[in-house]
Order: sequence, then C-alpha cells, then structure tokens
Amino acid sequence: ACGGGESAAPEKAGQASIRLGFSQVGEESAWRLANTTSIEHAATNAGVQLDLRVADGKQENQTAAIRQFINDKVDVIAFSPVVESGWDELLQEAKDAGIPVIVTDRMVDTTDTSLFVTMLGSDFTAEGRKAGEWLVEHYRDYNGTVRIVEIEGTTGSAPANQRRSGFAEAIEADPDLQVIASRDGNFTREGGEQVMAGFLKEHPKIDVVFAHNDDEGLGAIEAIEADGKRPGVDLKIITVDASRDGLTALAEGRLNYVIECNPLLGPQLMELVGKVRTGQSIPRRVVVDETAFDREAAKAVLPNRQY
Ligand code: AHR
Repeated sequence: ACGGGESAAPEKAGQASIRLGFSQVGEESAWRLANTTSIEHAATNAGVQLDLRVADGKQENQTAAIRQFINDKVDVIAFSPVVESGWDELLQEAKDAGIPVIVTDRMVDTTDTSLFVTMLGSDFTAEGRKAGEWLVEHYRDYNGTVRIVEIEGTTGSAPANQRRSGFAEAIEADPDLQVIASRDGNFTREGGEQVMAGFLKEHPKIDVVFAHNDDEGLGAIEAIEADGKRPGVDLKIITVDASRDGLTALAEGRLNYVIECNPLLGPQLMELVGKVRTGQSIPRRVVVDETAFDREAAKAVLPNRQY
C-alpha cells in the first residue's frame, strides 16, 4: 500500500530546529487516531518540533490554532481541513507572515493555489469510484433495482464530497444501481449506527450500504444486527479506510468490500517539511498509493496491519 511505512523517516540533518504547527481535524475515527500517531512519531524521528492541536471537528478551532501558529512564527504550518471551504483569509495571513502551509489529507477549496505549497493526501474521488466499480461488477448479472443507501462523511469535507461524486460517477454504468437515500454520519461509529437505524425504519428494502469510512460501516453493522438482519449477507456493505477493525469485519464476512485510505502520512509530511524549510523544490500534489480489499485479501494483510 502507501505512503512509505513508518520506517521511511527523512534524514535528521538540518531539521533539528524546524518548528511545525499541525492542526488536526479531531479524533472521530480509527483512521484519524492513526494519522495523528503517524505524524507524532515521524516528527520525533525527524527531530521536528511539533506543536499539535486537535480541533474537535470544528473549523473555528482550526482557525484559532493556525492563527496561534502564525503569532508564534512557526517555520511551517500543516493542517488537515475539516471542511473544504472558508480558508482563504486565514491562509493569506500565513502567506503574508511568510509561513509556508502544507495541506494534508483533505484538500481546501480555493482559487488561489499560491496559498499553500503542496497537498499531501489520498485521491478520494478514486476511492469512491473503486467502491462504485466493485458494485457494478458485483451486480453485473443481476436484473432489477439495487437499492443503495449512502452514509456520508462530514458534510462539506473533501472526502465526503469526493467519495460521493466518484461513487456516483462509477455507478452510472448500471442504471439498476440507485442511491435511494444519503445522510451525514460524521465519520463516526455512533453516526453510522444512528443513520443506518433511521434508514432501516424508513426503507423496507435496502440492498447495499456505502459508508464513507469504516467507523460508519461498523456502526451500521450494529444497527443492521439490531434490526434482525445479517450484515454482509442480507445487505452488502462497502466502506473506505481499511483500518484493522474494518478489515476484521471484512474477513468475518460482515463487510463485503473495503477501499484503502492510508493514514500513515507522517514520514512523507516530515520529508516535505524538511524540503520546504530548506528551499528545495517539491511537487504541488503528493498522492498516496492505495489499494482495495475483498475478504481473502483482508485475511492476508490483517496479521501485519499497522492501523
Ligand atoms: O479525511 C480522511 C477521512 O477522515 C477518513 O476516511 C475518515 O475515517 C476520517 O475521519
């Protein structure tokens, strides 16, 4: 899979004095916790002084953290924006202060690309597309409507927007595949369970659940079982992330297909931070390599899964 393992730490030479302010989204999912740990470990390995602030899913908290980094005159700012829009003014402040900004994981929606130096993260549209393509293939020989419910990620976030559109684009290949309902599950287990319980009450027949992350899918499993149905059998479930818990549910047959979204971005981030600090050229976009898992593939990778 992706992104250099945790062993791919950059060289320490010349980085000892770098101060990095990192504003993290929150603690909503297993993915997010693994992402934070990866960044902390990689900073330690690279000798980067990390000021990590966790925003509890609130844009205003991220704004306050980034303003603080600007006041503190850190060398580099990195952040994973909770939602896509509304960052221009703040990023302009960082630019005016001469502090380079690296966007990680989730993209910002801006027309002024000079406001950040690079974007490191997954291709969420491709992830959504992979989910849709699996479904098209799975129902290739099936005749009749396939009723899909979508448990979306946080409204306004890049992964929710892009996974939704990639998925929609892929399932257009088969008009029998129909999304009958979609709702925000906020990337949490609790959210996934609540949204799924609501769908089950409102819709007498559901064939497929597309959850935008594993946690939502795992929450949906609870709701489906509570409703007396068999997750993975009576309802097919596709999720994104491929966390250990997600792959375990896939290996048990309670999920059906899982798209990888790799959170171990720390080593690549530190490498970029070092290069930005020393004025070396870096690509505008660094995409993380990722794969997808069916049941057998999940069983094969589970023993060594890091997150
Ligand atoms: O931005 C990445 C997404 O955010 C992950 O898929 C999800 O689990 C996390 O909360």
